[in-house]
Amino acid sequence: MQDYHVAVIPGDGIGQEVTPEGVRVLDAVGELTGAYKMRYDNFPWGCEYYLKTGRMMADDGLKTLKEFDIIYFGAVGFPSVPDHISLRGLRLPICQGFEQYVCQRPSYLLPGVKSPLADKKPGDIDFVVIRENTEGEYTGAGGRAHRGLPIEVAIETSVFTRTGVERIIRYAYQLAQSRRKKLINATKSNAQQHSLTFWDEIFVEVGKAFPEVQTERVLIDALSARFVLRPESLDVVVGSNLFGDILTDLGGAICGSLGLAASGNINPERDYPSMFEPVHGSAPDIFGKGIANPIAMIWCGAMMLEFLGEKQSADLIMRAIKTVTGEGKVLTPDLGGKAKTPEVTDAIIEKVRAVAK
Ligand code: IPM
Ligand code: MG
Repeated sequence: MQDYHVAVIPGDGIGQEVTPEGVRVLDAVGELTGAYKMRYDNFPWGCEYYLKTGRMMADDGLKTLKEFDIIYFGAVGFPSVPDHISLRGLRLPICQGFEQYVCQRPSYLLPGVKSPLADKKPGDIDFVVIRENTEGEYTGAGGRAHRGLPIEVAIETSVFTRTGVERIIRYAYQLAQSRRKKLINATKSNAQQHSLTFWDEIFVEVGKAFPEVQTERVLIDALSARFVLRPESLDVVVGSNLFGDILTDLGGAICGSLGLAASGNINPERDYPSMFEPVHGSAPDIFGKGIANPIAMIWCGAMMLEFLGEKQSADLIMRAIKTVTGEGKVLTPDLGGKAKTPEVTDAIIEKVRAVAK
């Protein structure tokens, strides 16, 4: 039996509601399969912590987290704290400090879930966006000067390094190679003539080692339209930090609910812990009502298990999720149901038990 030390950071808003649900599923599956046991340490970091201490996480937070096998993260951000502070105080330092340069976000249309796009069947939408996660538009390079004056100026510079671009593009090729072997380069090199022509060149260079992967270079504006018009044509898409951010909300939306979208912030070299978190964020509008969909968080648990090498357990969770959505009996309001958050978890655990037998 494997023993994993997990740092749990529920964070803000519905992160606090869905994280314990994900933990319940991880425990149930570990018990049933006997494959692993998780030891958890919970960290109360986030906006409430900031209001008390002036920090989003402990000063030595990264040092503490570095010792863990993996990080299970709920959400960050709440109206009580400006967004750029909460983001730059917790999630970004972890992603950037731990070289979690891959943000992997699957979009899969689950059985029983209605896509807002007409006539889509389960599995018709099945692609993965690989988002660059440590540089690009999120580097934070820039500044503001002459505040309040008519000559006030704000500059925010995107940063693309050869190391950063090569490694994310290589990861995307490898993933495409293991899937349907189709890779789209999300770019905008017609307008971003320095950084994204550089990105495009590296895309071609790295691709030489992957002759079987069919590639396309698609401008981000046209690609967004294609997400809506022909999502079946997508397999793996690689893009910069900001492009990936935008595309993955769209990916979640066309798969029926952001409450289903999972993601992993991954350090493929495993020099540092990786971090798994749902795409949906803290959702202050529904926080406290007990109706947040736990499926994205539970799916993150499956991604986390797969990353840890527990493929069978991960598959078990995915099958249980698909059965529950397919039956359509226990669903939260975002999917048209009336169930409360823990009821969906209970239903998934019940299916895990049934499948394991
Ligand atoms: C995401 C989120 C974050 C991002 C926000 C909370 C800053 O939208 O994980 O996609 O932009 O990266
Ligand atoms: Mg986003």
